Amino acid sequence: MATTNNPVRQTDLGTPASPSTDTVKVELDGKLITVPAGTSILRAARENGVAVPKLCATDNLAAFGSCRLCLVEIEGRKGYPASCTTPVEDGMKIRTQSPALADLRRNVMELYISDHPLDCLTCAANGDCELQDMAGAVGLRDVRYGFEGENHLDAPVDASNPYFQFDASKCIVCSRCVRACDEVQGTFALTIEGRGFESKVSASASEAFIDSECVSCGACVQACPTATLMEKSIVDHGQPEHKVITTCAYCGVGCSFQAEMKGDQVVRMTPWKDGQANHGHSCVKGRFAWGYASHRDRVLKPMIRNSTSDPWQEVEWEEAIQFAANRFKEIQAEHGQKSIGGITSSRCTNEEVFVVQKLVRAAMGNNNVDTCARVCHSPTGYGLKQTLGTSAGTQPFDSVMDADVIMVIGANPTAAHPVFASQMKRRLRQGAKLIVLDPRQIGLVRSPHIEADFHLPLLPGTNVPVINAIAHAVVELGLVDEDYVRERCDLDSFEAWKASILKEENSPEHVASFAGVDADAIRSAAKLYGDAQNAAIYYGLGVTEHSQGSTMVMGMANLAMATGNLGRSGVGVNPLRGQNNVQGSCDMGSFPHELAGYRPVGDDAVRGQFENHWGVTLDAEPGYRIPNMFDAACADEFKGIYIQGEDVAQSDPNTQHVEAALRNMDCVVVQDLFLNETAKFAHVFLPGTSFLEKNGTFINAERRINRVRKVMPPRQGKDEWQITQDLANALGYPMHYESSAEIMDEIAALTPTFANVSFDFLDRVGSVQWPCNDDAPLGTPIMHVDRFVRGEGLFVETDYVPTEERTSRRFPLLLTTGRILSQYNVGAQTRRTDNSIWYDEDLLEIHPADAETRGIREHDLVSLRSRKGDIALRATITERVQPGVVYTTFHNPETGANVVTTEYSDWATSCPEYKVTAVEVSPASHRSKWQDRFAENAKDQEKLAALSDAD
Ligand code: SF4
Ligand code: SF4
Ligand code: SF4
Ligand code: FES
Repeated sequence: MATTNNPVRQTDLGTPASPSTDTVKVELDGKLITVPAGTSILRAARENGVAVPKLCATDNLAAFGSCRLCLVEIEGRKGYPASCTTPVEDGMKIRTQSPALADLRRNVMELYISDHPLDCLTCAANGDCELQDMAGAVGLRDVRYGFEGENHLDAPVDASNPYFQFDASKCIVCSRCVRACDEVQGTFALTIEGRGFESKVSASASEAFIDSECVSCGACVQACPTATLMEKSIVDHGQPEHKVITTCAYCGVGCSFQAEMKGDQVVRMTPWKDGQANHGHSCVKGRFAWGYASHRDRVLKPMIRNSTSDPWQEVEWEEAIQFAANRFKEIQAEHGQKSIGGITSSRCTNEEVFVVQKLVRAAMGNNNVDTCARVCHSPTGYGLKQTLGTSAGTQPFDSVMDADVIMVIGANPTAAHPVFASQMKRRLRQGAKLIVLDPRQIGLVRSPHIEADFHLPLLPGTNVPVINAIAHAVVELGLVDEDYVRERCDLDSFEAWKASILKEENSPEHVASFAGVDADAIRSAAKLYGDAQNAAIYYGLGVTEHSQGSTMVMGMANLAMATGNLGRSGVGVNPLRGQNNVQGSCDMGSFPHELAGYRPVGDDAVRGQFENHWGVTLDAEPGYRIPNMFDAACADEFKGIYIQGEDVAQSDPNTQHVEAALRNMDCVVVQDLFLNETAKFAHVFLPGTSFLEKNGTFINAERRINRVRKVMPPRQGKDEWQITQDLANALGYPMHYESSAEIMDEIAALTPTFANVSFDFLDRVGSVQWPCNDDAPLGTPIMHVDRFVRGEGLFVETDYVPTEERTSRRFPLLLTTGRILSQYNVGAQTRRTDNSIWYDEDLLEIHPADAETRGIREHDLVSLRSRKGDIALRATITERVQPGVVYTTFHNPETGANVVTTEYSDWATSCPEYKVTAVEVSPASHRSKWQDRFAENAKDQEKLAALSDAD
């Protein structure tokens, strides 16, 4: 029920919905209505089309009762209670309109307006201001109190945040911003300082927003009913005219947004309240960091060159596609059918990914297709499939609200999955217990109103022994859920696992001797997890990017099965997927051994189904994984690659090996938004589209298929699936899709878990979690409810085989890597936004003791050396890391963080071991040789680009 004609404003029912399933009947303005018990009168009225005025209430915050605008009359009660803080009661008779109420409301509004700059016509919020709406709603016609007395009209504007401003002169001190920061975001950066007339909103200790604890999530801006907190994009461009619902293209949370538009220009991204993954919340990246889509660095014309030392030559699409196809054909003629392949992107839509893997299999005629999930969550796919039967997380995000104990392993949700972190923090503030397994003191360990019950600061590389020790303690303490295991799991495998886990080598005492954690803490954490009614595991790349990543995933699944923590709300084993469509790119058949839906390419029946549909004979042999492609390239056996939206030269480990492989190829085709690091080795550049220019779907970490909708036409003139289709046709394999909806129809026809999915269906239901088919027509929020997908849950023994990467006297420290909130992965997008003001270079975190013994001071340039290479970067000294461990991010290409990482990888999936590298750190006076070469190369590329421009 809208109170305004504003075309983009979302419905606001005033107070949160009551969770009660009981109902009560009340009489509202003479009409009998039925609402859930516990509903506020304000919400009951609004749900029934009666717009009781309000200012301090909004439906994602607990009612506060400060503005006194929502007063009503209740028969038999004295006075005028606030309808936002008064719940309905059976038989209540409520009047929302009367002359007395009208007077009271007008008086309230008069007081607000008497201390408000009356610049409505020139105010950026004109037309989107609840204060303005309320003045109209209560019929305020004049203000008796002058502006001569004390007022706040000269209060300063704080414009320090790059994305929003705070104009204190317009503040009505309703505290919606403060409550949004507390209740929705969980950062507690704002307070109302002072009393009475002196009351004012203050960021941290009266600091500018940019210097405060604020993390720029924007929840306060969205909550503000006036122009006090206002997006600068709205100040600059004016109010939006229409909106399109779409999905954020950054992380695996998959937040829904309404892109608010003026013509085809985005003027604001507002989190969509009906989005099932985010419920109207967002982080700084999704809400504000979308400017890269129109950044001047975007390449908008296809380009080709014969050799990487030639300048780029802009050409028409047809010429670029034909150039790539001819080269691929020549390579195959000379080196064989299997000498080329492709990499799909977890940043692209399912439809775009599906078409690329089809291009490789059907047009190139081999299975040399892999995806960037190889380097992040491939062990999740393997480990969960082995034990539970499906390669995906088990729960919806909302399930965390039923968890009593939350175990976070190798993940940093407040930095990498911020919106889910806010939800998790809400549950923790309600009293859920928290166990963190991480070498670093991540933000969750201690933050306002949250303190982890146990932080086990294990050394990088010791995940498996620590999870084994926890399982050992669970068994020893008698916390195995015997009934659950008997009913749901494979008993032989359980007995074998139990015997193995009880071995002395898995005891907390033994593990404590080398893993950097305390045996008592392991036992106590095990007791907490094993005793819980509902215990849930959430994990990230700190689990998977190890030589034993798959073992660890199975170790967590074993623990969850043994304690009966799978198959209902509040439990589960949940990967926090890194990129927006990691889940989808895997689901779409991007792996060299699997077709869509994780079905083996070697299975004749499965392959036959695709062959019939595609009218082509497919190779039954699995193809190369990404690292095998690079090895084969160095051996002159793999000569051409089509890379969709992935910067392997920056993101893959052992950069010098990747560069050598790319240099050795005869045709590197890069499809991307920007000339990334990989493009330096490319012969063909095909400009891609940003998420704002795509029609399709992404799948988030909870298996939710979300629609991505085009809000503007592709700036380079072509949908990305069309580019791939054109290349397939040029290679001689006909493809004739007319829309991305048609591609989804084909995915649904060929993939049993997607059988009921179509764009029409998604447009009707909003979003759905796969499997979505005749057995689950509205999708499957929780997996493994009555039985595991594989039938009986399989326990797999998880012996600890330490990584071969060891510390030594030369390399005594362990390097581990991760992300920070404001930047995203290789930074191609976020570095092209104002987010860089928070973090414009990768820093090396080092413990004070390690810094002191090496003579390193804060912000010194230091050399970081491993057996693979060396780089220089600035140090920051912090106790977030423990002695013996250093940490950095990998957001800037000039840092070259992956120059030092090794070629070690997960035994089952070849996922690189980014998280453990033995290194030494020492003061440095200049950049490393690799960095010098990088800078020279960058200059060369700039010169070549200048030559191209001159052409
Ligand atoms: S932007 Fe987010 S973190 Fe910053 S003050 Fe507002 S609600 Fe709090
Ligand atoms: S800044 Fe906005 S939300 Fe916060 S107290 Fe002022 S008017 Fe209310
Ligand atoms: S949490 Fe992830 S999906 Fe949501 S807005 Fe932030 S980056 Fe986008
Ligand atoms: S809306 Fe109820 S007191 Fe403000």
